[in-house]
Amino acid sequence: MQILVTGGAGYIRARVCVELLKKSYTVIIADNLSNSRIETVEKIKQLAGKDDVIFYKIDVTDASALKSIFLSHKVAAVIHLAGFKAIGESLEKPLKYYYNNTVSTMTLAEACIKYDVKKFVFSSSATVYGENKVPFVETMELRPAANPYGATKAMSERILSDVARANPGFSVSLLRYFNPVGAHESGLIGEAPKGVPNNLMPCLTRVARGKMEKLRVFGNDYPTVDGTGVRDYIHVVDLAEGHVAVLEKLAPGVHIYNLGTGKGTSVLELIRAFEEANKIKVPYEIVGRRPGDIAECYADVNKARRELGWKAKRGLLEMCRDAWNFEKNYRE
Ligand code: UFG
Repeated sequence: MQILVTGGAGYIRARVCVELLKKSYTVIIADNLSNSRIETVEKIKQLAGKDDVIFYKIDVTDASALKSIFLSHKVAAVIHLAGFKAIGESLEKPLKYYYNNTVSTMTLAEACIKYDVKKFVFSSSATVYGENKVPFVETMELRPAANPYGATKAMSERILSDVARANPGFSVSLLRYFNPVGAHESGLIGEAPKGVPNNLMPCLTRVARGKMEKLRVFGNDYPTVDGTGVRDYIHVVDLAEGHVAVLEKLAPGVHIYNLGTGKGTSVLELIRAFEEANKIKVPYEIVGRRPGDIAECYADVNKARRELGWKAKRGLLEMCRDAWNFEKNYRE
């Protein structure tokens, strides 16, 4: 069965491709390589021990490029993971985000309708919940996104839900990722952002490596366990397995799933877990809050457990160990 994965050469996406190959799907990757590397495609094959990967360097907003893929392959389902994801950049370049992230969703959905592909899985984000009461449940009313990136995720969810309602038989799964971290156990695929990292784990590994002097902890005056921000960190391999679980249960209509662990961890707790897992000291300093950050964000994971039979299995120590392992391998 052939699955079209957009953005398949990225960090989370690559891991999803490996899981699909392991389950004997053929993977067609459509990626413009704007924030990923072509070598990842070879690593995907190597890790899965399979060659069933077809790569197209295309932009998903390009309808004619998509058309040629749909005409050349019998696509059974689409997993749409392509998109810009840096919150800070989205505030500086809102049009880039609104255009790319929503037009790609619409173009792909339109191609699916046209070529009779009825299964669509979308990588959304916990950011759509906005500042809500934790734990975040799929049935909650969404709060306005604090930045254009979050708004594009909420808009794409809305667009796809409307498409599913207007096209009986169409299946849409909206996957709300919490905070993916870690890497493949092999250290071959992990988070290697181009440029300066924004997220906590890649900053942490850089400090551990001596490339940054100190980790800046953004605020210790939140109403949380120790005053620092609380997030639901999920191992990227668990997240990838969640995609396969979803793919195997696709049914017509709109289905929303949180992909998280259900556990909140503060920044200081994550630093301590990293130090314990890797026996390495991470110097840090407390600085002011980062604009747009919320105090707490973690998932209610009951729906995914109940309906998909999926739950995250890997703990914080594994996430920290694998992230560090990748950082060492990658830099070397
Ligand atoms: N943090 C620091 N120092 C850093 C980086 C982050 O203290 O150098 C803190 C943040 O203030 C926050 C926590 O670490 O409390 C996590 O921050 P990240 O930047 O790693 O992640 P966010 O929760 O801000 O955002 C991530 C993704 C978004 C997604 C969101 C969903 O980057 O794309 O999770 O929960 F929308």
